[in-house]
Amino acid sequence: MNNDIERVLYSREMIVERMNKLAAQLSTDYQDKRPLVISVLTGAVLFTVDMIERMDIKLQLDFIDVSSYYGGTHSTGEVKLVQDLNSEVQGRHVLIMEDIVDMGRTLKFLVDLLKERGAASIKVCSLLDKPEGRKVDIKADYVGFNVPNEFLVGYGLDYKGFYRNLPYVGILKPAIYEN
Ligand code: PRP
Ligand code: MN
Ligand code: MG
Repeated sequence: MNNDIERVLYSREMIVERMNKLAAQLSTDYQDKRPLVISVLTGAVLFTVDMIERMDIKLQLDFIDVSSYYGGTHSTGEVKLVQDLNSEVQGRHVLIMEDIVDMGRTLKFLVDLLKERGAASIKVCSLLDKPEGRKVDIKADYVGFNVPNEFLVGYGLDYKGFYRNLPYVGILKPAIYEN
């Protein structure tokens, strides 16, 4: 285990088991819909790749990058489009892939944007959901795990850009934040 990790919450095995179930469900639900899968850079990339290889349906993949700015306090969040999709969204069944829904601002921004662009349907699949973190009313349709109100890293989730490559989700040692 990585020396900076205090505790593993979801092991690679637990994540794989959960992904197999989620992917089977998505394959059924999207059987003839040829969904446009949208992966939210950067955190969702690992989950997205592992999910789509388990989805036995015709789909397309695209990426979008958004960034949050929290001026002063965390109570006034603003989300900005950093890198747009390459695909047309009009009339498409869109499936957003996320690593975590926390305050919900990122997701709200994306759902509003895709609605505006005329998606036929918009659903969200997130590996993790932190209901206690929510600031705006939004929820994911497919969730891997409901997580406690702690700062998590690994399997796409970062602290200052690091730890995304850990094959599990865990909690950092407090000393790491104090550096
Ligand atoms: C993280 C995470 C989600 C978002 C959730 O991304 O990957 O996309 O925050 O936060 P919210 O529900 O409070 O809006 P981040 O903006 O840190 O970018 P990253 O994916 O590149 O790490
Ligand atoms: Mn993200
Ligand atoms: Mg991040």
